[in-house]
Amino acid sequence: MEKKFKRTLITSALPYANGPVHIGHLAGVYVPADIYARYLRLKGEEVMFVGGSDEHGVPITIRARKEGVTPQDIVDRYHKIIKDSFEELGITFDVYGRTTSETHRKTASEFFRTLYDKGEFVEKTSEQLYDEEAGEFLADRYVVGTCPHCGNENAYGDQCEACGTSLSATDLINPRSALSGSTPVLKATSHWYLPLDKWEPTLRKWILDDHQEWRPNVYGQCKSWLDMGLQPRAVSRDLKWGIPVPVEGAEGKVLYVWFDAPIGYISNTIDADPEGWEKWWKDPDTRMLHFIGKDNIVFHCIVFPAMLMAHGGYNLPDNVPANEFLNLEDKKISTSRNWAVWLHEYLRELPGKQDVLRYVLTANAPEAKDNNFTWKDFQARNNNELVAILGNFVNRAIVLTHKYFGGVFPPQGELQEVDLNLIEQIRTLKGELTEALDTFHFREALRVAMDMARAGNKYLQETEPWKLAKTDMARTATILNIAIQTCANLAIVFEPFMPFMSARLLKMLNGDKISWDMIGCFDLVPSGAEIGAPELLFEKIEDSVVEAQVQKLKEAEKQNLLEQWKPAEVKEEVDFPTFEKMDIRVGKVLECKKVPKADKLLQFRIDDGMGGRTIVSGIAKFYAPADLVGKEVCFIANFAPRKLKGVMSEGMILSAEDADGRLVVIGPTGEVRPGSSVG
Ligand code: MF3
Ligand code: ZN
Repeated sequence: MEKKFKRTLITSALPYANGPVHIGHLAGVYVPADIYARYLRLKGEEVMFVGGSDEHGVPITIRARKEGVTPQDIVDRYHKIIKDSFEELGITFDVYGRTTSETHRKTASEFFRTLYDKGEFVEKTSEQLYDEEAGEFLADRYVVGTCPHCGNENAYGDQCEACGTSLSATDLINPRSALSGSTPVLKATSHWYLPLDKWEPTLRKWILDDHQEWRPNVYGQCKSWLDMGLQPRAVSRDLKWGIPVPVEGAEGKVLYVWFDAPIGYISNTIDADPEGWEKWWKDPDTRMLHFIGKDNIVFHCIVFPAMLMAHGGYNLPDNVPANEFLNLEDKKISTSRNWAVWLHEYLRELPGKQDVLRYVLTANAPEAKDNNFTWKDFQARNNNELVAILGNFVNRAIVLTHKYFGGVFPPQGELQEVDLNLIEQIRTLKGELTEALDTFHFREALRVAMDMARAGNKYLQETEPWKLAKTDMARTATILNIAIQTCANLAIVFEPFMPFMSARLLKMLNGDKISWDMIGCFDLVPSGAEIGAPELLFEKIEDSVVEAQVQKLKEAEKQNLLEQWKPAEVKEEVDFPTFEKMDIRVGKVLECKKVPKADKLLQFRIDDGMGGRTIVSGIAKFYAPADLVGKEVCFIANFAPRKLKGVMSEGMILSAEDADGRLVVIGPTGEVRPGSSVG
């Protein structure tokens, strides 16, 4: 039994304003949310699409400290970059706010205060990590240490990024302060906790019984959280950056970022509709949808709903179509390693290609499992799908109309079977498309939309108006009429996915008002109308363009590795006699050649001053054999001989890694006699 709603409130996760957004955010959250908002608007439904920046939290303050600026400077900078880039990509937020706004401070404080006054919090004193050098408590990312689950030595106080487990700072083994590097001590502090355990039975029923239609990844994650048993969660922190806890005696404490951020959806709605905001949040006839990435599921399906229930009077989300992650060139996107395609850079480097990105990200949307973005695939989808199918069909229809009818739209005569088949097919596809969108299957929806363009191409292929034009102008008119009406249908169908293309196409067809109902109609363009000059909707993308992007990624990653490079830890101490056991000598390379059937190995003949010896070394990837002949190298003379690929190796040549991870052979800086000892 589908419930009927009067209006829909769409929220999209508020991105942290501590960096720009990248394609992973877009594919996971903003593109699908925008497609859905546009789709509902085309259906004439009442929609509020809420976005905004999440401007609190520890990472912002860490970044500010690193750059020697204030947290406010950081969020001002990134809020602008993010907001402008979303707009340029055609993400149609009805409001894009920020959690440092006055409305938000007031809304979040009142929300907290209501829960506080209702006795919905538990106040608890516990031992937290404290940095004595800095004189501050260390919340969340201010602590780094070893993950108790996987042993990663650089896990954060709120999460281990290696194994994904969410942690408490006090769980970490060997904790260190990110402020001073010192070892923190435990110190008592009191905080307010939301007793999630109290809401567990209600949440169980609401999700596990009443929302079995949620995506399996979302439902499954909720189930596993619920099955593990919910614990009370602290909603305050000892930090300077954030919304002060609105309670007397709470000086130095702020609201936990994950407490205030989702309330940002409410604050931003208030800013968008100060008089009518309550109907969006409290009227049971309003449906609420949260578009998020999978790392946000617990906060949107468990914590925020518990907050809303504790407050009372608010609706709960109706669905939370969370996506999995998008990888980039087969590797996890990483902002710290700069392995990402940043939206603001994409817009600058590939101008006018917003729709191509929207298309590719939707076609590869990580809806059911993690997915992968590659520049090769980006190019292929543009060239083989957008240019060759959609662009080609529209272009042919419009060019032929100009050629045979001087751009004046010809009338429709009697329809034949092939025409009726196309009309029928488009109407069937409309049903499939609507069904896919209604159930948040955006990839599938896009595939169906593309099938409409394919059907158009096939129609022109079958009817061949360019041949008929020689003998039968009336029939040619009908075919081109149907083809142009199909173009008008495509302009509507693709509007949610590729709004820029849709607007250009509509302009060529002299159309303006469109609605979802119009799909399947073949009288959208009136005969006698002037058709605009044909313009190419998409252009082929050359190899050089995508190769440059891959190159850029690799450079950025390399730059990052260089910046983050640290020498290895010094090994355990040894005394002189132990050192002396190692017989290091200088030798001269007499011969050097590849070892057959071993792509890593080089075989050396070394003049060691004692009649020569053979050494095999794994450096074939880094040197051409001839380049080493005549060079002086250091080697270990008393290394136990061993056979490598059938060759007996009597020693080991010393080398070190360069900045690219390539091995460089080590030798003396001046000439010495072969066989000289190094010590
Ligand atoms: N800033 C969070 C993130 O990027 C998302 C916040 S969503 C909200 O993971 F609900 F809290 F706003
Ligand atoms: Zn871990």
